[in-house]
Amino acid sequence: MNTWSLEKRGFAPADAAGDGNRFLCANGYLGLRGVPEEADRELFPAVTLAGVYDQFADRWREPVNAPRCLFIRAFFDGKPLAEYRQHRQWLDYRHGIYGRETDFGPILVRSQRFASMAGPHLLADRYEVNCVQEGDLALQVGISTDIWDINGPHLFDFRMQAADTLAVEAVTGEKRIAVAAAQRVRADFAAEESPLQDEGGAFYLLKKRVKKGERCALSAFAAIYTALDGPDPARAAAALCDQAESRGFDACLAAHKAAWEGIWERSEIVMEGDEEAALALHASQYHLNAIAPRHADNLSISARGLSGQTYKGAIFWDSEIFFFPMFVHTQPEIARALLRYRIETLPGALKKAREYGYRGAFYAWESQEGGNEGCTDFNVVDVFTHRPVRTYFRDKQIHISGDIAYALRSYYDITGDRSLLQAGGAKVILECARFYLSRASAHLDGDEIDFADVIGPDEYHERVTNNAFTNRMIRHCFESALLLKEIFADQPEWFRDLLDELDYEADWALLPEALRRIRRPRVQNGVTEQFDGYFALEDCGLEAVRSRLMDPREYWGGDHGVAGTTQIIKQADVIALAALFPQDFTDGQLAANWAYYEPRTEHGSSLSACMYALTACRVGRLDEAWRLFRKTADIDVTGGGKQWAGEIYIGGTHPASNGGAWMIAALGFAGLRVQAGRLTLHPHLPSQITRLAFPVVAGGARWMVEVTREGGRIRPMC
Ligand code: BGC
Repeated sequence: MNTWSLEKRGFAPADAAGDGNRFLCANGYLGLRGVPEEADRELFPAVTLAGVYDQFADRWREPVNAPRCLFIRAFFDGKPLAEYRQHRQWLDYRHGIYGRETDFGPILVRSQRFASMAGPHLLADRYEVNCVQEGDLALQVGISTDIWDINGPHLFDFRMQAADTLAVEAVTGEKRIAVAAAQRVRADFAAEESPLQDEGGAFYLLKKRVKKGERCALSAFAAIYTALDGPDPARAAAALCDQAESRGFDACLAAHKAAWEGIWERSEIVMEGDEEAALALHASQYHLNAIAPRHADNLSISARGLSGQTYKGAIFWDSEIFFFPMFVHTQPEIARALLRYRIETLPGALKKAREYGYRGAFYAWESQEGGNEGCTDFNVVDVFTHRPVRTYFRDKQIHISGDIAYALRSYYDITGDRSLLQAGGAKVILECARFYLSRASAHLDGDEIDFADVIGPDEYHERVTNNAFTNRMIRHCFESALLLKEIFADQPEWFRDLLDELDYEADWALLPEALRRIRRPRVQNGVTEQFDGYFALEDCGLEAVRSRLMDPREYWGGDHGVAGTTQIIKQADVIALAALFPQDFTDGQLAANWAYYEPRTEHGSSLSACMYALTACRVGRLDEAWRLFRKTADIDVTGGGKQWAGEIYIGGTHPASNGGAWMIAALGFAGLRVQAGRLTLHPHLPSQITRLAFPVVAGGARWMVEVTREGGRIRPMC
C-alpha cells in the first residue's frame, strides 16, 4: 500500500464538494481545491487566498477566492468534452501534487498540478492529451472569472488581457484590494493559437488537427498576487509567470518537491504497524503543513484552512490549542507566526472588550484581519423556520483570551525562549488577565469569584456559570501574568516599565487574591462538573437525544436545541481541561471523567476526539485511544465530519483534527513532554503500532524520538 497517496476512481458530481477538500493543494498563501481543471462552479472549484477578506452587501465577511487560474477545457470536433467514461484522481501527500486521469472518449487526459511550496504565489499544471481518434482538438487554457463564492461576489472591475501573458485583475468590493492573476502557457506541440478574452476570463485557444495516437502536452504557469503583497501585484504576477516558464515545469516541480522534503524532514511522524493508519497520519500532517503560513511571520490559520470560505476563513481557538502543538515542537517559527498574529491583533481585542463594557483584551471568537470579529450574533440558521438563531459564541465564549495566553505561555515553557513574550506576548497575557478581572469585577468582594454567563468548549450549553474549563483557563492566565515577573526577574526595569505603560498597577495588586478565589468546580465521585448545575440536567443518553431530532441537519444547541436541557455535550469540555491540565487530576479522576463524559459526548465537533484520545492514553484505555486516533486522523481521508450546522454549510478540511492526530501520536502514544528544552517520554503504544519515530526541536537543537515495544529513546540529530 502506498501510504503517501490518496486515490479515487470514478466520478460523482455529488461528491465534488467533499473531494475538493480531500484533494486540496495548498501552500499557506492559497488553497487550490481538488477538482478537475475543466470543472465549472457546480463542482465548487476555488483558489482561496489566506488573510484577504471581503464583505458583500450585508452577508458574512469571508476570504476572497481569486480568479481561477489553471482552467483548461478540452473540445473535440467542436464539442466540449464533459462526460467522463473513466476517471481517476489522486493526491500525493508527500509532495502536494494533485493528479487526474480521465477517459473522455476521443481523448485521454492526464495531468498533475501543484501550488508551489517553493514560491507561494506560483501554481503550475502539466496537462497531457492522448488522442484516441483523429479529429479537431481544441484546448481552452487560462484564467476563468467564473468564481464560486459562498457569500460573494467579492471581485469587481475586472480588467483582462489575453496576450503572451494572460492577465486578470480585479478589486475587492469592500476595501478595494487589487487581486491580480497571470498565466503563461507553453505547448509542446505546434498548434494554431488565438487569444480569447471575454467576460468569462482570459484564455488561449489552442487548436490542432490530431491523428489517432498523437500526444499533445502543455505546461501552464500561473501566479497570484494581491495589493497586500506589494504595490504592483499585476506586474509581480506577470514577472513570476515569465520566470517560471523560462525555468520550465520540471524545474518548478523539483523546487516544489524539495521544499516539501524539507518540511517532512522536520515534521514527519513514521508510524509502523498499520498502513492505513500511517496513510491517515500522512494525510493529517500534509493538510496541516500545507496551510501553514510560511510566507509571512504574522498570520494564523483558519478553522477550515484554505479549503474554501467556510467558517468565514476565521481564526478560532483551534489555532492555539490544536495547531500550535505540532508547530511548536517541529517548526517553531510557524508557532511564532500564529502567536504574532494574536500579538498584532491585540488592538482588535482591546476594542472588542471595550464594546462589551470590559477592560483588557477580549479576543474575537472568529478572528479575521486586524482581529476583526467575524462571528455574528446569528451564527446558525434554523432548518424549520429558516430564521437566524441567536447564538452567543461571540459574546460568551470568553475562554478564547485564556487560550491565547495559554499558548504564549506554552511557547515559553516548551522552548525556554522568552523573546516572544518580550515582543508583545507579555502585554497580551496581561491584557487578557485584565479582561478577566473586569469580567469578574461584580464578584470580586465575595468569597469566591464566579464567571457567570459563559460558554465553554461545549457550545450546546450556552450562558452557563462557572464552566470548569473556562475558570481553569482564567486561573492559568492569572498565573501566567504573575509568572512574568519571575521570567523577567533579571530585567526588573523592563517589566516595571511595561506595567507602567499599561497602567497596570491596580490590576497587578488584585491578581494574586483573584487567582486564589476563582471558583473551583464541584467534583462528585471523582467527576468534575462541567458547569454549575450540569449534573442536574436530564441524563438520557446520546441516542435518546438523537431520536428527538426532527431533521438530521437540525442544530442541537441554542434555545430550542435537543441537547441544551440534557447532559449530552457537543465536544470535549472537561476532557479538554484534563488533556491540557492533567496535573490537576489524579489518575483515578482522569479515568472517572473519561468514563463519565465520553458516552455523553456527541463528538459533533472535529475538535473533540483528539482530546479524548490524549486522556485515554493517560488512563491506559489504549483501544479507545486507537479508535479515537483513527476517527481524528481519518477525517480528511474519508471526508467525514459534520457538513451542516442548521442550514449553514460547514464542510472543508479539518486542521484541528490534523493537529490532533499529531498530538495523539507524539504527546499521547509516545508521551512526549518538553519542558524548557528538555525532553522526556512516557509511551503508551496501542497494540496496533510497532514503532513511532519523529523529529522534535527543543532547546535550540533537533532530536529524533523513537518509541517501540521495547521502550523509547531520544537521540540528537545532526
Ligand atoms: C466548535 C468550536 C470550533 C469551531 C471551529 C465549532 O463547531 O464547536 O470549538 O472552534 O467549530 O473549528
